[in-house]
Amino acid sequence: MGNSKPIGVFDSGVGGSSIWKEIHKLLPFENTIYLADSKNAPYGNKSAEEIIGLSIKNTEALLALDCKMIVVACNTATTNAISVLREKFDIPFIGIEPAIKPAALQTVSKSIGILATKGTLSSALFSKSKEFTRDISVIEIIGEGLVPLIEAGKLESDEMILLLKKHTEAMIAAKVDYVVLGCSHYPYIIPQLKKILPENVKIIDSGEAVAKQTLSILLKNNLLNTEEKTPTLQFYTNAETDTLQFLLKEYSKKISVEKKDF
Ligand code: SIN
Repeated sequence: MGNSKPIGVFDSGVGGSSIWKEIHKLLPFENTIYLADSKNAPYGNKSAEEIIGLSIKNTEALLALDCKMIVVACNTATTNAISVLREKFDIPFIGIEPAIKPAALQTVSKSIGILATKGTLSSALFSKSKEFTRDISVIEIIGEGLVPLIEAGKLESDEMILLLKKHTEAMIAAKVDYVVLGCSHYPYIIPQLKKILPENVKIIDSGEAVAKQTLSILLKNNLLNTEEKTPTLQFYTNAETDTLQFLLKEYSKKISVEKKDF
């Protein structure tokens, strides 16, 4: 029994599927619908107004599919649009923010790096999350160019390695011991980052924390699906399906990936 309506998840593209994986791991019986707005990716260099407009469009598409709650699996959309979404729509929203607090609390070198989009790093919500970093040095790097390469599935390309070397230079020089990933696309390039960063550097992303928060909000709102049935796991993209299928290949027998206008 319980509430079997789907959980909606949206992102500017394929990256939020890294968050979906954590949600599905923790909540394996929940039906889910994922929207990849790849036609409009990347969101990171767009104005706050544009990001809010796209986030409203994605939310309306998920509500038309009868979702009971929505996970904004995109840092840029969360930091720029989640307060507007919460005001405008009467369902629970979960957002994703860079995991700065655990990095700030655990750093030994007192120096941490943050890799995120321009839209996230310049947002008011991000400035607020820096209250934990008063006594440490924070190297903020805009991951310019990374999202388009991930959207194109070019995870291991020479272009990707060159860009990552460039984006990590200042962090390595500042002897960071934590790198916080502030974009849901970036967990897909952790293996490449690990090859470039010194061995002692830990990389933190927000996927697990978002999944735990999703469970907690479902419980609080009495929305958990308590039926232990094989769930329906739908993925829609408004661009080509190839990269999403590639990134979700370990789930290929359980999910459907389709192209759809929204
Ligand atoms: C982007 O679309 O530029 C990145 C999405 C994110 O911030 O997670």
